[in-house]
Amino acid sequence: MKTLKVGIIGGGLMGREVACAIGRWCALVDFPVRLELTAVCDLVEPTREWFRQVPTVRLLTADYHELLRSDVDFVYVAVPHHLHEAVYLDVLRAGKDLLAEKPFGIDLAAARKIRDTARELGRFVRCSSEFPFLPGAQKVWQFVRSAELGHLLEIRSGFWHASDLDPTKTINWKRQSKFCGAIGVLGDLGMHVAHLPLRLGWRPKRVYAQLQKIYHERPDGKGGMAACDTWDNAQLHCETEVAGAEVPLHLSTKRLAPHEMNTWFIEVLGTERGARFSTKEPKTVWLFERRKEQVWERYDVGHAAGAFPVVTGGIFEAGFSDCFLQMWAAFVAEREGLLGGRFGCVTPDEAVASHEIFAAALQSHAERRAVEI
Ligand SMILES: NC(=O)c1ccc[n+]([C@@H]2O[C@H](COP(=O)([O-])OP(=O)(O)OC[C@H]3O[C@@H](n4cnc5c(N)ncnc54)[C@H](O)[C@@H]3O)[C@@H](O)[C@H]2O)c1
Repeated sequence: MKTLKVGIIGGGLMGREVACAIGRWCALVDFPVRLELTAVCDLVEPTREWFRQVPTVRLLTADYHELLRSDVDFVYVAVPHHLHEAVYLDVLRAGKDLLAEKPFGIDLAAARKIRDTARELGRFVRCSSEFPFLPGAQKVWQFVRSAELGHLLEIRSGFWHASDLDPTKTINWKRQSKFCGAIGVLGDLGMHVAHLPLRLGWRPKRVYAQLQKIYHERPDGKGGMAACDTWDNAQLHCETEVAGAEVPLHLSTKRLAPHEMNTWFIEVLGTERGARFSTKEPKTVWLFERRKEQVWERYDVGHAAGAFPVVTGGIFEAGFSDCFLQMWAAFVAEREGLLGGRFGCVTPDEAVASHEIFAAALQSHAERRAVEI
């Protein structure tokens, strides 16, 4: 079986998640390619040391250029946003393919530079966004593409967190604009809510954005306080055109959403049919139908509804690590030309399109008006 060597740059929260996804690769049934994690780069020694338990890792380094000189076939990069552009470009120029973490550059200019460089160099590049790979989200995607929805009424896509409600939560780079970007929470959560609408062809034409900064400082972890200058919540009221009609598209990203622990959701409503899925009810998909009576039907979904078959029982419920594995399978399958009609990872064009929305949202909020995209 073909084996691809993988390198990770940035071994923090997401870098470790990737090591675990690769370790669970045997869960994929009849998948034509095997992965081997061979090289890991992180600046922090204890972070690097964690990867020693992965038997295939041969190179641990603090210098990502050393990793890029190794024989890895492609690289996954999960570093703070202000480093995306430089590191991603170095990966591409080293002749390696790239699975990039979102938001794919700290701003629109960086995203365009990365997309254009990948195109010039002919490198295969995709961006991370795993929630649409959950079985429930897959069912919504398939339903919306095939069902007669009638006149589309509205689309809602959101991703909400709650832990920042706690004002004593210590600051980190994700809450400081110089590392996270001026788009704040949109850089953190925005790609997750844009992926499915963009893939369904629902590009916003204009946006009116409400951005909120709630807490302006947080404990610095050293006994003092530090400025917390990123947008906490962002609600984007957009319009998209579907079949010649303008349809409201709501993109909602919040770090301060009471009692919402990593809640990702999508809802599509038409006059005839509709669909709804939220990770709040992780194995439930709701489908609407206007019959003589109007009904919401409730379906349970398990692993059987995933895009790539796994050994896990078809009725067993899926979670974060499962959709992350499915996303990785989609990346590898697409790179090998084997994706078929299945759902794929965010393309560089879609990543740039998401940044165009976020840049317009910043302008909209600053000028308190709707902005054309
Ligand atoms: N897909 C998702 O669900 C998801 C979730 C969280 C974060 N992310 C994204 O992943 C990326 C990383 O986020 P995280 O939560 O893993 O952050 P993190 O802070 O946990 O990890 C980042 C790591 O990068 C390392 N690093 C920094 N500079 C480096 C350099 N020059 N060379 C090598 N390593 C370096 C740090 O030491 C740290 O270990 C961000 O782009 C973030 O938006 C994605």
